[in-house]
Amino acid sequence: MDNMILKHMEFILVLQYFIPLITPEVAVEKELENFQCSLYSSKAMNCSWLPANQTADDLQLYYWYPGESHKTACSDYKDRAGEKTGCCLRGDFLEHDVYFHFNGTLNGLSVQKTFRVCPVHYVKPPAPRVKITEEGKDLILSWDPPDLAAHRCWVYILNYSKCQESLSKEIQYEYDNVAVYVPYDLRCQYRVQVKAVYKKSCGAGASDWSDVELYGVEDLHVDWSMTVFAILIPAAVGLFIILFLCCFMKHREKLFPKIPQPSLILKDMLNSNKERKSTIGNLYVPVEEEVECKVILDKDLPLLMMQPDP
Ligand SMILES: *[C@@H]1O[C@H](CO)[C@@H](O)[C@H](O)[C@H]1NC(C)=O
Ligand SMILES: *[C@@H]1O[C@H](CO)[C@@H](O)[C@H](O)[C@H]1NC(C)=O
Ligand SMILES: *[C@@H]1O[C@H](CO)[C@@H](O)[C@H](O)[C@H]1NC(C)=O
Ligand SMILES: *[C@@H]1O[C@H](CO)[C@@H](O)[C@H](O)[C@H]1NC(C)=O
Repeated sequence: MDNMILKHMEFILVLQYFIPLITPEVAVEKELENFQCSLYSSKAMNCSWLPANQTADDLQLYYWYPGESHKTACSDYKDRAGEKTGCCLRGDFLEHDVYFHFNGTLNGLSVQKTFRVCPVHYVKPPAPRVKITEEGKDLILSWDPPDLAAHRCWVYILNYSKCQESLSKEIQYEYDNVAVYVPYDLRCQYRVQVKAVYKKSCGAGASDWSDVELYGVEDLHVDWSMTVFAILIPAAVGLFIILFLCCFMKHREKLFPKIPQPSLILKDMLNSNKERKSTIGNLYVPVEEEVECKVILDKDLPLLMMQPDP
């Protein structure tokens, strides 16, 4: 029994090896497996067929609706270094199937191939664009439905996160505008992403994920270093200014000496005993303060010089 299975396997392996040699068409068909279309609007579709490592020497594409006798030649090829890699087609692809016909050479082999494609199975609209607005205590997440097929054909996958929490919702909508209300937590930043998916009842396909749309202040833990800088720098500058003013006030009289007024001189002469005591007091105190201020400033100065770097 085991032997029989092994023999069959061998036969299949050998057959697989020889098929491309016996019938070149098999190999060509395999190359066209890369044929892909995306219906991105109700009237336009992009198709491509050439992976990066293949060459198409002289390939022509024709297309037509079932029942039509006239074949339309592709008039808008996409190319890469002169090689036809795809075609941009215009037509009512949401309503009709399409026949494709290729002829020419692909990887040096002659191609003659006709096949039928059902475009509603290759729907790929542009990614939706999310808008976030604040209303009362809610955030309204909204986006326009794809400009393709009936609204009932679409379902949306909404992913959003707030602070550390991630949520995913499936949303179905009949109205022209899709809007979702979520309670707004002011402490959190919201990150929102949406994808439009074409329903099975209408066909198949989906858009890419939209760009991430942000709303709200950044979570504090994420940005604590910036917050620290935002507090430390003004605090250090403030401290410096206070110290500077303090020293300035103490030495104001030295820097801008007062011109003695005649009335004061007269007073001096009248009660010289009292004045002398206070003069001694005034002279003595600032000398000590001067030393104190210098020490504090010297400590603080290098720290302040380093601040503007980041
Ligand atoms: C379709 O092809 C055209 C031409 O190459 C290109 O400008 C357009 O972006 C393509 N659209 C999609 C959805 O791929
Ligand atoms: C192209 O690359 C694919 C995968 O990398 C490989 O399977 C295929 O044989 C290559 N085709 C040619 C014509 O080189
Ligand atoms: C390719 O096919 C088109 C449409 O059927 C036909 O008009 C054309 O003559 C064919 N060209 C070649 C080289 O077979
Ligand atoms: C959306 O959410 C689902 C479920 O949590 C997750 O599996 C998926 O990776 C998310 N997609 C994106 C693009 O964040």
